[in-house]
This record gives sequence, C-alpha cells and structure tokens, in this order.
Amino acid sequence: MDEARAAEITAEGIGKTFGAFRALKDLSLDIRRGEFLTLLGPSGSGKTTFLMILAGFVDPSEGRLMMNGKDITNIPAEDRSYGMVFQGYALFPHLTVEQNIAFPLKVRRRTPSDIKRRVGAMIERVGLGGHEKKLPAKLSGGQQQRVALARALVFGPSVLLLDEPFSALDKNLRAMMQEEVKRLHQETGTTFVFVTHDQSEALALSSRVAIFNHGELLQIGKPQDVYERPASRFVAEFLGEINLLPLEHVSRNGSGATGRFEDRAIIFDQTAEKIGHEAVAAIRPEHMHLTETPPAGCNAITCCVEGTTYLGALTKYHLKTKTGTQIAVSMPTAAMSSFHPQKDVWVSWPTREGFLLPAGK
Ligand SMILES: Nc1ncnc2c1ncn2[C@@H]1O[C@H](COP(=O)(O)OP(=O)(O)O)[C@@H](O)[C@H]1O
Ligand SMILES: [Mg+2]
Repeated sequence: MDEARAAEITAEGIGKTFGAFRALKDLSLDIRRGEFLTLLGPSGSGKTTFLMILAGFVDPSEGRLMMNGKDITNIPAEDRSYGMVFQGYALFPHLTVEQNIAFPLKVRRRTPSDIKRRVGAMIERVGLGGHEKKLPAKLSGGQQQRVALARALVFGPSVLLLDEPFSALDKNLRAMMQEEVKRLHQETGTTFVFVTHDQSEALALSSRVAIFNHGELLQIGKPQDVYERPASRFVAEFLGEINLLPLEHVSRNGSGATGRFEDRAIIFDQTAEKIGHEAVAAIRPEHMHLTETPPAGCNAITCCVEGTTYLGALTKYHLKTKTGTQIAVSMPTAAMSSFHPQKDVWVSWPTREGFLLPAGK
C-alpha cells in the first residue's frame, strides 16, 4: 500500500451528541484512497455513528468532512453515492438475485445493456453464477451476503462502507467471507471502511485499523503496529491477550529503558521518555518462552506453573510470579517440552519484544 496515498475523505473534529450524550468526541482522521480501513471497538463505542456520518445519514454536531479537498458535510447521502453493506442483509425479498444487484443501476438510469453487462460481471465476481433467478429467501446466509456485496459495488462507488457485515455468520463462513471481501477490495481498488468489534477480523483484513472507545479514536495504524506497539492499555488489551508487569524505578538506559519487577531488572529497547517512573511492562504471550534455567541476553523472571490449556497448534501456560502477578505464555505445542504444574520455571523474552505502557488505566 502506498504510504503517500492521497486522503480520500478527511474527518476534522467530528463530534456527535444525542441529547446530553456524546457519542463521538473530536474525531479527526484521514481515509486514504484505496485503503481498507477498519473501525474497531467495543459495542457502543461510536463506530456505526461515524459510519452513518460518513454515509450522510447522520449529521455531525461538530466538525466537518472533506472529500478530495471539498467540504461534503452538508451533501445528502444520495449525492455522496457510497456503496453500503449492513449487518442485516437488507435485500429486497421480492426481487431475484439479479434484480437486487441491478437495483442501484436502475436508480441511476443506466442503459439496459450496461445493466446486463455489469450485473453479469458482478455475479461472476462474487461467485453467484447459477443463482441469478433465485429469491433471497432461497439463498444461504453467505450467498445473501454476497448479493449485498455485489449490489453495493455494482455501480462502481469510490467508497464502500460495511457495518459488521459478517456478524450473523458462523465461524467458517465468516472466514470465507473475509477472504472474499479482501479479494473484492484488491480487485476493485475501492476504498473500504469496515466496522467490526472483532479484533482478529480487523487485523486480518485491514490496511489500517482505527481503535475506538467511548466515542474517541484512541489509535490508528497498520495492524502490526497497533498490535505490537499499542499506545495505551486499552488498545493493548482490546487487540489480544497481553501480560502486564507493574514496574518500579523506570528510567532511561542508553537508547532504551530499564525498570524493576520484583527482584529483577527488566530491560527495554524502547526508550522510557514520556512514560514516567512508574509504568507497566507489556509482553504478548507468544513472545515469552519457558525454560528450566534463565537464558542469556533476555529478560527473565521466575514463575510457578499453575496450569495449561491445550489449544491445538498452541499450548497456553498459566503462571504466577512470586508476588502474585498472573502470566500467560503461549508456545507452539510441537516445539515444546512439558512443564509440570506447581514447578518453578523461568519466563523469558527478548528486550525488543517488551514495551512500556503508562501505569494506571
Ligand atoms: N439515534 C440515537 N439516539 C440516541 N443514542 C444513540 C443513537 N445512536 C447511537 N446512540 C448511542 O451512541 C453510542 C454509540 O452507538 P453506535 O455508534 O451505534 O456504537 P457501535 O456501533 O460502536 O456499537 C451508543 O451508546 C448508542 O446507544
Ligand atoms: Mg454498530
């Protein structure tokens, strides 16, 4: 993805209040042309509200929206002409697959031959060949969602807005539809803005992920960046399991930082600037290892094994430090020798894999 890609849509200080309730607070972000941007956050964090503002169905209480340098805040939804896919499929139940997909083209008064060509191509693209004459009720959930995608893309919108489109599907079908949507994004070059509360879906699909909580944008970045270097505890914990060790005496140490956990010095490649003397060390479970003796050149603490969970490819160890901090370590099952419950072991991790987060929430 081109880093210097132009912003397609820019939100500047967008706020939304419903009565006395602030659903969105001072939201500013760029949506880049052709990217797959995911809005990720817990239920009620303001994702749908922001998507509806982008679509033009909800007016912001504050701020403005720019598209390609033009103020579109007061442009009605029908003139923005973005494609939309919602949670429920919202297909027309009395129209066939091809009539559903043709609908946006009819509204736009395209010629019958253009409609036939585009609908045919779209049906091929989403793999619905042979189902053209069926009514939605005769289709599976996945097929219905394909019709919804085809209908949203058939008129060639520059932006496609998707609000939790796969939340009603079971796990396997969901994974298939995720691949499908990724492929459609790559093939069409359309800008996708996708809403989900599922962190793994966000990490798997996106060029960038924007993490929301309580109507605020907390962080935006590439999946690897927000996962490996979350800026706050909320983002760290929302994106996946993470171990947090409370530290004392945090200070700079050359180009990195150091702090104390129990009786051990913990070293970080990352600097301690802006973090303060009290901080927590954050380490993902997959970056930690278990050994009988402390390995050289790594951070290491002693822990007691409390139990294990077999997860197929991975096995998860549940451990506790001397002062009672819980630690989770996940290791590939195949690569593992066994560590028995109630045994003391060393938990270690490379200095580059741990990072500092501010103490407190
Ligand atoms: N039309 C509305 N009137 C009052 N409150 C609303 C309205 N729409 C959304 N909200 C509230 O705004 C908050 C954010 O909602 P929403 O954007 O739907 O969150 P999300 O999509 O992240 O689950 C919620 O607390 C919701 O109850
Ligand atoms: Mg929502």
